[in-house]
Amino acid sequence: MKVLVATEKPFAKVAIDGIRKVVEEAGYELVLLEKYTEKKQLLAAVADADAIIIRSDVVDAEVLDAAKQLKIVVRAGAGYDNIDLAAATAHKVVAMNTPGQNSNAVAELALGLMVMAVRNMYNGTSGTELKGKTLGIHAFGNVGRNVARIAKGFGMNIKAYDAYCPDEAMVAAGVEPVHSAEELYQQCDIVSLHIPATDETKKSINHHMVSLMPKGGVLVNTARKEVIDEDGLLQLLQERQDLKYVTDIMPVKDAEFRAFEGRYFATPKKMGAQTAEANINAGIAAAKQIVDFIENGVTKFQVNK
Ligand code: 3PG
Repeated sequence: MKVLVATEKPFAKVAIDGIRKVVEEAGYELVLLEKYTEKKQLLAAVADADAIIIRSDVVDAEVLDAAKQLKIVVRAGAGYDNIDLAAATAHKVVAMNTPGQNSNAVAELALGLMVMAVRNMYNGTSGTELKGKTLGIHAFGNVGRNVARIAKGFGMNIKAYDAYCPDEAMVAAGVEPVHSAEELYQQCDIVSLHIPATDETKKSINHHMVSLMPKGGVLVNTARKEVIDEDGLLQLLQERQDLKYVTDIMPVKDAEFRAFEGRYFATPKKMGAQTAEANINAGIAAAKQIVDFIENGVTKFQVNK
């Protein structure tokens, strides 16, 4: 059995050591394709792989066509919008994610971006504090819950909107539920996005939605760039000098956003899950899920049923 780790953005070495241990203890072989720059490198590497571990790497029909031996692909992380699920099913390939394994890392970065924004991007001028401000968590999944836990320590008031999460779960976490996205944006000084990129959510964070935020509003995006209507947000940043946008997913129109100096910040690469701990948790979980599937047929985290 050949397990390929195909990561354009590599895991920390300590995570690879852990993945290797799990794979080799099962009697399988580990192959690494890291920091690849062209799709053809991925197409060549998958040719004889029985299993693949990926991060945000794109596994589409072309990759699946090239992966003649492939039985399982595991996205070491939460969002699996980078896998063509229908094509995986058509190729009889099981697709999985590793929910929750990197969520603390993403949540810590979201809070870090909030501090950066309210301290004027650390430019030395007088900013504001998070304590006493109202935080809106847009989607209360694994990352949203961790954001709430950490934000409580900052003394923030916390609200959340999630059409798929019962109020009781939010209340139990000390979070006030609101019942529409509009309400959340209207009522919160800072909104932190934790929605997946789906047909329903793509471009849903648009001019109208963000324009509802109170004066001095901060939008934090550690979710996906696709959920932002970039033209709408650019227009709004032009109209409202008080708003800020901070993200670890560089927008397609980064060059245009850069015009809003002091009110926009993006990391060069998506880095919410770029910690040794998150890499170890998600990478080793992915390796174990592969072994469990191959040896025992366990499909617990399958996402293409
Ligand atoms: C996820 O969906 O798990 C996060 O966005 C992390 O993505 P990454 O593995 O590409 O850093």
